[in-house]
Amino acid sequence: MELVSVPMRGGVAGGLSTPAIAEAARNALSQWPSFSVTPLLSLDRLARQLDVREIWLKHEGARFGIGSFKALGAAYALESLLKRKSLYDEHRPGPLTVTCASDGNYGRAVAWAARQLGCECVVYLPRQVTEFREKAIQQYGARTVRVAGNYDAAESATKLAAIRHGWVLFSDSSDENYTAIPQDVMAGYCVMLSEIADRLPLADFTHVFLQCGVGAFAGAICDYLHSALGAEAPILVSIEPERAACVFASVKQDKLTQVDGALETIMGGLACGRPSPLAWELLRTRLNFCATLEDAWAVRAVRLLASGGGNGEPVVAGETGAAGLGALLCAADDAQLRLRLGLNSSSRVLLFCTEGATDPGVYASIVQGDRDAAADRAPAADVRRHAELESGPMALRDTAC
Ligand SMILES: Cc1ncc(COP(=O)(O)O)c(C=O)c1O
Repeated sequence: MELVSVPMRGGVAGGLSTPAIAEAARNALSQWPSFSVTPLLSLDRLARQLDVREIWLKHEGARFGIGSFKALGAAYALESLLKRKSLYDEHRPGPLTVTCASDGNYGRAVAWAARQLGCECVVYLPRQVTEFREKAIQQYGARTVRVAGNYDAAESATKLAAIRHGWVLFSDSSDENYTAIPQDVMAGYCVMLSEIADRLPLADFTHVFLQCGVGAFAGAICDYLHSALGAEAPILVSIEPERAACVFASVKQDKLTQVDGALETIMGGLACGRPSPLAWELLRTRLNFCATLEDAWAVRAVRLLASGGGNGEPVVAGETGAAGLGALLCAADDAQLRLRLGLNSSSRVLLFCTEGATDPGVYASIVQGDRDAAADRAPAADVRRHAELESGPMALRDTAC
């Protein structure tokens, strides 16, 4: 793990994802028929082992039956969009089409929300997304388009397609004059904290580890905690794969920075090369530390949870979902990192398991202990296999509806 501290900044603006905004999102989402509060698990066995006071894991594997926390953001933002624009207007010629880029989970969530709300959906996928994840998106009637490039190439393709076809760009990442939808997505994510606050005082937590792709999740959680707790906010640590560490690079450069290349990692949901500007503004002022994490720690975290190493009960977590725990395992194992992060026997740590086994094949390979098989089925190997395409022109391949 490489760790940098984020300089303290005064005069912080914000308040995009406040408790009041999260409450509004929770009120809206709790009307959805399949809504239920997800579990908050105490990993007491692991806490004793790592010599910290408490570890709490908010587990999103069962959220809305689609496998990840992304459903919260997609559902709330799409419902809000439709209300805002009165798009239920019966004079519209046909259903609205929304389009987004995704490493798998966000696309699945948007496809699901679109079907619930009567919209069409087209999802652009980077080349390395597994076939299972693509089918999981298609099962909601969405069309998928594979892009011969990484996540950022898929995002660019989405923007072009939205303009060309008159579709609504439905991104979790902001752009110039494009903030309303990403902001609502982040508000939806904050429902997790609102649920946690029902069980435990948020001020009790001393550390929160947050996995980052485009940073919408981490930015939202950091903003909520700062809005709710001010100076009492816990130590906030962002976690990114070594080869897709765009928030880390941005902190080091002190400006929003894109990282290029294949963004190769087993933590597929975090394989993003550019932070959302909206999230970056929040992260740069609210994070205390930024870290990069080797894939092996995510694998270790998945296996630990599967074997009941958290609290005696097996817990199913995907490799991206377990990244926060992977970071805690890594940090707790290293005296220097413990010291820098202030982790000790009084620490109360909050983690988010942001997904269940969203690709059961990859999950089984990891848990069965066959590291090579896991790597073979995971995005990283797919990227290697198709490395020769990397330098070629961006090719688009439409797949079945
Ligand atoms: C399971 C999971 N956790 C965390 C993230 C990171 O979220 P964000 O892209 O908002 O940083 C993702 C993104 O796809 C994800 O799928």
